[in-house]
Amino acid sequence: MKKTLTVILFAFTITLLWACSDDDNTPNTNGNTELPKLDIANLREAPFKIGAAVSVNPLKNDTKYRDILIKEFSSITAENAMKMSVISKGKGQYNFTDADYIVDFAHQNNMRVHGHTLIWYRETPSWITSFTGTKDDWKNLMKQYIQDVVTHFKGKVASWDVVNEVIMDDGTYRPCVWLTNIGTEYIELAFQYAHEADPDAILFYNEYGQEYSHAKNVAINKLVDELLAKNVPLHGIGLQMHTDINKLEDRIKYAIRAAAARNIQVHVSELDVSVNPENKADVTFTDALAKKQQDIYRYITQGMMGIPQGLQFGITMWGVTDQYSWRYNSPDWVLPFSDKYERKSAYDGFLQGFYK
Ligand code: G3I
Repeated sequence: MKKTLTVILFAFTITLLWACSDDDNTPNTNGNTELPKLDIANLREAPFKIGAAVSVNPLKNDTKYRDILIKEFSSITAENAMKMSVISKGKGQYNFTDADYIVDFAHQNNMRVHGHTLIWYRETPSWITSFTGTKDDWKNLMKQYIQDVVTHFKGKVASWDVVNEVIMDDGTYRPCVWLTNIGTEYIELAFQYAHEADPDAILFYNEYGQEYSHAKNVAINKLVDELLAKNVPLHGIGLQMHTDINKLEDRIKYAIRAAAARNIQVHVSELDVSVNPENKADVTFTDALAKKQQDIYRYITQGMMGIPQGLQFGITMWGVTDQYSWRYNSPDWVLPFSDKYERKSAYDGFLQGFYK
């Protein structure tokens, strides 16, 4: 009897110790750094593509920049080299030098290329903004630009941001030369023209602010639903996600779910997490800020893991390391890699999110 009791007590103690051990892979929810993280060697092994926006200068001149891209990333977006102002030099005249360099680098290193961006209210060259003509002339102008560019990259660029930032934060259409001269139809025409040029390309509507403006989020999804109802060849929504440490977990995850509810591809397309959203000159990157940033990175991957696998197009970070981010001089430290090319706690947060 005494022996049986000893065995039971021993088994109970072992069970208790096991239950309290750190080996348990169930994530707790208090957001601390003890959360388990995906056991992978680099982001290329993640469950879906992880990309980075790249610039041609460091790609050519900074070996560490190239190395970290090759090691960690499976997708590339040109941060600026495929924008209209860079490519378009006049009617039928193009400069693809930088864009081609990026595409060649990507293919040599087995990376997907995402095209950014065909039609945007910014970066429109002056020969287009000063163009005069009828509505049909404007349609032809847009058609030629889109089809020349998409044809140039056909078979090399897997997907495009066809239209970028067409809705304002209040849910109304954003003014641009295409809206003025063609009307709202310019949006569906842009998708049709791109699809005609490359029927295999995955075509996105890319937009920011979906995670903080409810009015904008509703308007975006309404527009997407209308386009899909008209059989416009729209295959995905890009959520830029230039976000910051003050944004809300629920809103971030809701925006990702709402996009997936359209049953089309979801791309978190320009992810960065500001720790200095008010652009204060005297901010330093403290552990407390790093911790908040880590949480936001985790919410993003959790959000993507929460949608059907077939809709997870990928997550693209808007830059490679803090040093090369468009926000670095704010000052800000927005990316998962430091200016010394080291993995930050944001990187761990990103990996933690792969546990649903
Ligand atoms: O190319 C010139 C270069 O010749 C000159 O020496 C230099 C001097 O400042 O300027 C260079 O152009 C700048 C370009 O970035 C390349 O560095 C432009 O002035 C500058 O406006 C441009 O900013 C880019 C911005 O889009 C506007 O195109 C940012 O790098 C880029 O990160 C940002 O990306 C956008 C996405 O495309 C859309 N979503 C929002 C996101 C952030 O604003």
